[in-house]
Amino acid sequence: MALDALNMLLLFLPLSLFFFTKKLKAVRQNNNLPPGPPKLPIIGNLHQLGTLPHQSLCKLAKIYGPVMLLQLGGVPTLVISSAEAAKVVLKVNDLNSCSRPLLPGARTLTYNYRDVGFTPYGDYWREMRKICVLELFSAKRVQSYRSIREEEVDSLINLISESSSSATPVNLTEMLFSLTASIVFRIAFGTTFERSGFNNHRFHQVVHDVQAMLGSYSAAEFIPYVGWIVDRLSGLHQRFERTFNELDRFFQYVVDNHLSAERTKTDHEDIIDVLLKLVREQTGFGAAQLSQDNIKAVLLNVFLGGVDTGAITMIWAMAELAKQPKLMKKAQDEVRTSIGNKGRVSESDIDQLEYLKMIVKETFRLHPPAALLLPRETISHFKVNGFEVHPKTTIHINAWAIGRDPGYWKSPEEFIPERFVDSSTDFKGQHFELLPFGSGRRVCPGIYMATTMVELGLANLLYWFDWKLPDGMKEEDINMEEEAGISLTISKKIALNLVPAKYSGTHQKIA
Ligand code: HEM
Repeated sequence: MALDALNMLLLFLPLSLFFFTKKLKAVRQNNNLPPGPPKLPIIGNLHQLGTLPHQSLCKLAKIYGPVMLLQLGGVPTLVISSAEAAKVVLKVNDLNSCSRPLLPGARTLTYNYRDVGFTPYGDYWREMRKICVLELFSAKRVQSYRSIREEEVDSLINLISESSSSATPVNLTEMLFSLTASIVFRIAFGTTFERSGFNNHRFHQVVHDVQAMLGSYSAAEFIPYVGWIVDRLSGLHQRFERTFNELDRFFQYVVDNHLSAERTKTDHEDIIDVLLKLVREQTGFGAAQLSQDNIKAVLLNVFLGGVDTGAITMIWAMAELAKQPKLMKKAQDEVRTSIGNKGRVSESDIDQLEYLKMIVKETFRLHPPAALLLPRETISHFKVNGFEVHPKTTIHINAWAIGRDPGYWKSPEEFIPERFVDSSTDFKGQHFELLPFGSGRRVCPGIYMATTMVELGLANLLYWFDWKLPDGMKEEDINMEEEAGISLTISKKIALNLVPAKYSGTHQKIA
């Protein structure tokens, strides 16, 4: 009840935004006020801007420019919507802008900021980041998981092959979520997704709840002293507790399994093995001591960062290709010609697949899974586009808007992988017009792990099957709407159902 009333109140606020900002502009002009980032007075959180804030902010940036200052509750929030301004923030002022705001949902989920992704900048973050980069997600470690990825992709292909004999549509959305979940669960937790106790539906629910917890509005954030009472009345506090307890039970269970004397050794160290070794030896770690809470907090990052984002990318890529059969055919020709009758695409083949790599880049441009990246918080004062930015300002980089900026991209709304022919632009954080993984000190440390998974999955789907639309459906009927809601990631709203037909070339069956 209380939440409804509060939401009703907050829903009216965006309406006032338009009139308020017009008035503000007029006041500025009449009084010859010095230029500053246009201040858009919004109270509440980003989701009061509508269910797809990255889209609303993109529209506002077209009116007010690529640097806007929102007042979200008591928090000044800078929204960046151009590659130039992103470069000033993430490169020129990387150190000044590399902290994270303290989000109440994140505090609970990360065992009081004992993780990497949500913890503010400081010695602790530097140590944890070092562990991620050197130990957990290094190229060597990612390569050591190659057999897991290949086995899981083979299982997926076998599963789809069964449906292909009956020419019935398969739900690729569900299957690709299962694929990334299976890979990440084995790599990180040393257990298969099936044995983890989550079924597909429950898993989605938990991911959704966790994301909602991180993205949701909490009254405690902006109503001083009494906000927490509103959170308790609204049920938000209890929801946070429930989600946290469920995840904590799961993480504790997998950690305990690793500590059990009966555990059979596998031929590779999973992420929990590596972290437990660091706890035992307390090596490579500076001032802070690692405990099981640190391990569970890092597992949360892997759980959140690893599963959703990779699946979302593959789903959008397949949807875009299904919409343009010519591109699909071109990608299939490339992979089938270069792999021939080897019987499967393995990771060592991927480097030859230039067109596939362009498809992945183009998918990241139009559909960056974390459209607003993760929020940053400034540590010290700096200027962007001539405007003053003060410490403790939250920053959102609208990677979605930047990827569709007509100033950088020709026909920005169209899916054209060929735009990357002879282009050195990539997504690793050096080209600010393409920022799906962010940039600078806080750039995603899982880029290599994510791209190997996405490229291998897509290459095999294209190698093994021709893909048709379900009966009666045309290319233009494929729904490309984005999923609305409180979430850090943006997925395709409607599940992608396609009919697989086993390629009639001469591939042999996977063993
Ligand atoms: C397509 C897949 C992925 C995308 C699009 C993605 C995107 C991002 C973005 C935008 C950030 C914030 C960067 C910034 O603030 O500048 C981030 C941070 C992070 N990502 Fe990823 N990510 C992906 C996959 C992964 C994977 C597979 C892992 C690990 C298993 C991972 C772990 C992390 C961690 C730990 C951080 C926090 C880094 C820090 O704050 O220092 N991500 N990711």
